Amino acid sequence: MAGQDFINALPKVELHLHIEGTLEPELKFKLARRNGIALEHTTAEEVKASYQFTDLPSFLEAYYDGMNVLRTAEDFYDLAMAYFERVAKQNLRYVEIFFDPQAHTSRGISFDTVISGLRRAQIEAEQKLGIVSALIMCFLRDFQAEYAMATLLEALPYKQWILGVGLDSDENNNPPAKFKEVFARARQEGFMLTMHCDIDIPGSIDHIREVIEEIGVDRIDHGTNIVEDDALVEKVAEAGIGLTSCPISNTWVSKGKIEELVDLYNRGVKVTVNSDDPAYFGGYIEENMRLVQEEAGVDNEFMAQLSRNAVDISWAPAVLKEQLRAEIDDAVANAGK
Ligand code: HPA
Ligand code: ZN
Repeated sequence: MAGQDFINALPKVELHLHIEGTLEPELKFKLARRNGIALEHTTAEEVKASYQFTDLPSFLEAYYDGMNVLRTAEDFYDLAMAYFERVAKQNLRYVEIFFDPQAHTSRGISFDTVISGLRRAQIEAEQKLGIVSALIMCFLRDFQAEYAMATLLEALPYKQWILGVGLDSDENNNPPAKFKEVFARARQEGFMLTMHCDIDIPGSIDHIREVIEEIGVDRIDHGTNIVEDDALVEKVAEAGIGLTSCPISNTWVSKGKIEELVDLYNRGVKVTVNSDDPAYFGGYIEENMRLVQEEAGVDNEFMAQLSRNAVDISWAPAVLKEQLRAEIDDAVANAGK
């Protein structure tokens, strides 16, 4: 089977996907019409042409601006359902989805509105498309730690719908330690922990050390700047801390990360390939995997191992992990025929 066909057939696991980052221009127009909101652009081409990110803050500006059309539970349902329908065609089997409640509560949308819309889509996606999913609630690191703590407490009645907590938004001058108490409380409440350590941020290596040593995360989002520090590579590999890398997203703000991904893989780090904000960066999980195969010239076995890594570092139940591993093995066996 040729490379591209194999990549499509490969059962996939996505661990770094911001649901608000899947808002495609067409859906944005539909929701704006439904909610009576005027938009600056009128065609998808205009919207995409306006995406000229050169760093994290310039991306975040467009990302938060886009969310303004999300008002009702139905909007959040439509957003998530559009994502699930799209990636069902890419053979996505399991996804841990980030959502940013504070990006909505800060503009007057209730936590319940957000999560109940997402939850309805999750149930339907599992029944109709066979995609199992879980939610990771991210705190916005450019807001105060007190607001993150209040959000955590507000989420507790919905605890059975949320698997873990994360940290995203602008990392500049917002180090992990700012949220030490919030994450300690989240751990106490039984949540799994992850945090963004974005690409090429000032103090990146210190931030990565902090999330491992002071926060005690279960995995790290992005985090591939560890290549600059051999001791850190060894530590991450030994501790089995997974990295959720997002190759297409990285190309907007940095160069040369794909070789680093392969290098980290070869040094025993559990790296995975993910899509981050596909509607903004222009690629869902399959496009990200294809980019890795093309740029790094790696074989199908390498690509299958990326999917296995994602299963390993996911927080899926053990039975589902076994099933996904068997499906990946089947895809490899079928490709050899
Ligand atoms: N980094 C930080 N904040 C974000 C990201 C990201 O990759 N995507 C959405 N919010
Ligand atoms: Zn991200």
